[in-house]
Amino acid sequence: MSRLVLVLNGPNLNLLGRRQPAIYGRETLADIEAACRREAEDLGLGIRFHQSNREYEIIDWIHEGREVAGGIVINPAAFTHTSVAILDALNAFEGPVIEVHISNVHKREAFRHHSYVSLRADGVIAGLGTQGYGLALRRMAALLDEGAGGAS
Ligand code: DQA
Repeated sequence: MSRLVLVLNGPNLNLLGRRQPAIYGRETLADIEAACRREAEDLGLGIRFHQSNREYEIIDWIHEGREVAGGIVINPAAFTHTSVAILDALNAFEGPVIEVHISNVHKREAFRHHSYVSLRADGVIAGLGTQGYGLALRRMAALLDEGAGGAS
């Protein structure tokens, strides 16, 4: 199984560090990417790190992942709560999927309590801040070591 992991980020996450810092903290997406790269190196994983404000781009990366990636770590941001299309794309991906949210979505508005992506995710991390990404990569490495599949 490929040890390449896609780390995908949805809309508005390009503004991290400046966007609602009381909720999302002061770290930028570039800081998160650098931390993910360090963690991945320690774990013997390769990563491709992407962010987009466009739903179709995230879907296209998931499709590409079918050919090259062993697993996907995804913070779909607001698309979490709206996107059947991202759920369908993830259902067409065979490896493990871990969903990450920086904030604790369950402590926030009711519309954030439902996630389409959770219907597919093998694990969900929420409310652990930006550390959630590194923890997701650790779990991903263990799942890939076990040869775990994702889609049912
Ligand atoms: C988020 C939570 C979502 O509800 C929100 O739309 C985001 C970020 C998080 O990381 O906490 O943009 O996914």
